[in-house]
Amino acid sequence: MKINLSNIKKAQKLLNKSECVAIPTETVYGLAANAYSDKACKKIYKLKKRPKNNPLIIHYLNSQILKRDCNFNKDFKKLYKIFCPGPITFILDLKKNSKISKIATNKKNTLAVRFPKHPITRSLLKKLNFPLAAPSANLSSKVSAVSSAHVKDDFGKKVKYVLEGGKSSIGLESTIIDIRKKPKVLRLGGIEISAIEKSLNKKIIMENNTSKISSPGQSKLHYSPGIPIRLNVKKVCKEEAYLLIKKGSKKKPNFYFLSKNGNLKEAAKNLYNTLRKIKKDKYKSIAVSKIPNKGLGKTINDRLKRASKF
Ligand code: TXA
Ligand code: MG
Repeated sequence: MKINLSNIKKAQKLLNKSECVAIPTETVYGLAANAYSDKACKKIYKLKKRPKNNPLIIHYLNSQILKRDCNFNKDFKKLYKIFCPGPITFILDLKKNSKISKIATNKKNTLAVRFPKHPITRSLLKKLNFPLAAPSANLSSKVSAVSSAHVKDDFGKKVKYVLEGGKSSIGLESTIIDIRKKPKVLRLGGIEISAIEKSLNKKIIMENNTSKISSPGQSKLHYSPGIPIRLNVKKVCKEEAYLLIKKGSKKKPNFYFLSKNGNLKEAAKNLYNTLRKIKKDKYKSIAVSKIPNKGLGKTINDRLKRASKF
């Protein structure tokens, strides 16, 4: 994707004035604002209709800049070297003198941080003298946005500017890992847990105790297209949209495919786009055929399971 400097300058100008701007990332689009400004962060919550107790991920250009705000340990350094910039979010201890807005952290003493890989957002971060707080650019509890058109569908003119960055290449949110003590995954995402385990040479705990949620955004209902979803369906009704992992020989108007041959990366990239398309095509419900529970398939199944709680 070509980098258009005048677009980046426009985003920079608005962000410097404490406005919100939607930004492209390789995972999903984010709704960004100055992470050092209470006024700017408040606007994110208002636009997204996000509960105030759900803290924001802060996006940095590199770990050198992050040093101002967080402490890090050996595990962080190892994973940073291998996976960053990329689809991984770390939970770290906030430094006492950090300038991060308490609105963004909900006064927690930890911070979720990420280093996005998308070249346009990296160029933007280079021009700013603050990091960007950015939750996914969708209405709270709904399907994330993987293109600028999706952001516009959700927010219309309420978002002052959407920085164009094409289709998100991964299409699922980042993997969230708390590495302050024993590494613990709080959200499955674009990087497989097995790859992280290999890099750290450690077993990683998966947190799935939703009664004591340490990542508040991981509440049960999430990623919902706004219509009911049935999972692991073999027989579909005529009125339902049928979501399949790969293109089979059967083609019907209500069949939607996530990939050509069952490739899970391709399926991940198409998931949110397809869920949004089904809703636009006016189906009242979705039946999903079984999706292999391995690799990124685990993240796809996690999102569909949460979306089915509608
Ligand atoms: O790929 C991504 O992570 C995208 C792009 C835009 O970077 N962002 C994203 O943000 O998915 P959001 O806000 O939709 O999800 C962030 C999750 C929420 O579940 C939130 O509760 C959790 O991160 N979180 C934020 N700060 C936290 C903290 N200090 N401790 C634990 N969880 C935290
Ligand atoms: Mg989200």
